[in-house]
Amino acid sequence: MKKTIFNWIICPLFFFSTPLLAAVNSDETGETSFAVLSDIHVMCPALLIKDGAAFEHYLVNDRKLLKESPALMETAVEEILKAHPRFVLICGDLTKDGEAVSHHYVVDKYLVRFKQAGIKVYVIPGNHDVNNPHAVCFDGDSVKRVPTFTPDEFARCYADYGYGNAIAHDKVSLSYVSQLTDSIRLIAIDDCRYEDNDYKKDVCVTGGRIKPETLAFIKEQAREAHEKGYKVIAMMHHGLVSHWKWQDKAMPEYLVDHWKKQVKFFKKNNIRIIFTGHFHSQDIAERHRVYDVETGSTVTYPCPYRLITIGKNQMNIHSHRIEHIDCKLPDNESIQQFAFRFLRNEMPAMIVKMFPASLPDSCKMGAAKVVTDAYVANLAGDEHYTQQDKKEIKTAAKRLRHYSWKNAYIFSHLSKYLWNDQRPQDNKCIIPFVK
Ligand SMILES: [Fe+2]
Repeated sequence: MKKTIFNWIICPLFFFSTPLLAAVNSDETGETSFAVLSDIHVMCPALLIKDGAAFEHYLVNDRKLLKESPALMETAVEEILKAHPRFVLICGDLTKDGEAVSHHYVVDKYLVRFKQAGIKVYVIPGNHDVNNPHAVCFDGDSVKRVPTFTPDEFARCYADYGYGNAIAHDKVSLSYVSQLTDSIRLIAIDDCRYEDNDYKKDVCVTGGRIKPETLAFIKEQAREAHEKGYKVIAMMHHGLVSHWKWQDKAMPEYLVDHWKKQVKFFKKNNIRIIFTGHFHSQDIAERHRVYDVETGSTVTYPCPYRLITIGKNQMNIHSHRIEHIDCKLPDNESIQQFAFRFLRNEMPAMIVKMFPASLPDSCKMGAAKVVTDAYVANLAGDEHYTQQDKKEIKTAAKRLRHYSWKNAYIFSHLSKYLWNDQRPQDNKCIIPFVK
C-alpha cells in the first residue's frame, strides 16, 4: 500500500467531519440547506438468497459495496436527518440493478423517514434503475431474473419523492420540474437509455442522452422559471461537463452524449448549476460558467454525500464521508479503511483486462496498480499529484513501451489526467449564482 496516498486520502479532513451544520432554511432571507446523494445502489438483502459463487462472480466485476449498501444508506439517512436540510436530491442509480424489491426497500426503509421528518426528497433514475435485464437474485451458484421497473412503475413508486407533486412532466422521459422553495426551481432531467436495454443480449446501456423533446421541455421550463424570477438548479445522472481530460474519449458513456453542445445549451438557457453522479467521483467541473457538481457514491470509497447551503448569490458546498456503519467488517476495519482496501485490491484485476492479452502479466499488473491509485484519488476528489506518483507512472510506462508504444501512451496520459484535478475544488467549494 502506498503510504502517502493512504495518509492523505484516509486522514479525516476537517470538512469531512460528522455534519454539524445547522440547517438554515428561511424563505425570508432565501437561505436554504439541502443534501445531495448519488448512486446509492441499494441492494435489497432478500436478493441474496444464498451467498456463493454467483454473487462472488458479480462482485469481482464490480466496484460497489453491495452487501454493505443498506448499512451505508442507513448511516447516510441518520446523519442527514440530524442535519435536517430542507430537501434531499438523489441523482440516480438508487438500486443495484433496478430490481422492484430494491426500489420498494429504498422507499420503505429510507425515503419514508425523510418524508416523516418533513424533508422533501427528489429523485431521478440512473442507468441501472429501469427496465434492467440485470435485475436478479443470487442463490448459491445460480442467478434468477426478478421483476424490474417500467418507467411508469418508477414514477408511481417515487410519487412522494418528486413525481407526484411536480409542476410539470416531460412527455417522453421521466424528467420533471419541482418548486423547491419560494425562490428555487428544480429541473430534474432523465437522460437514461433504458428503452435500449436488451433482454436477449443481457445488455443494460450505460450511456446517456437528452432527447430533442426533453431539450425543448427544459428550455421552456427554464424560460418560465426565470421569467418568474426563480433561481434554477438541475440534476441529471450522467455528467454534463467533462470531469477530467480524456473522459469523453476514454469513458464517453459517463458523460451525456454531445456534452460540449449540451453545456452550451445549459448556458444559453441560464441553467448554471447541475448535480450529477454516475462516475462515483467527488468532482466539480466548470465550463462556460456552467458547474457540474458530481457527487460520489455511498457504495464506493470514500462513501460521500454533500450538504449544501444556498444563499442569496452563492451556493456553499460541504462534503462528508460515511465513517461508521452498523455492519461487522473484517479485521475490525472502519468502513473507510474497508472501502479503500476493497478498491485497491479489486480494481487492478479489472483494469488488467483492458490491456492486450499479449502483454506480460507482471507488466500489466504494475500498470493496473498505478491506474488504480489515480482512480482512487479521482474518486476522493481534490487530487494531489505528487512527484512519487509521477515517478510511478513513468516507470510503469517505460516497461509497457517495451511491448506496445500505443498502450504506454494511453496508460501514461490516462493516469496523469485522472490525477490532474481541474478547478474548482471538489469537496468544499463556493459556487456563485451568475446570470
Ligand atoms: Fe450510473
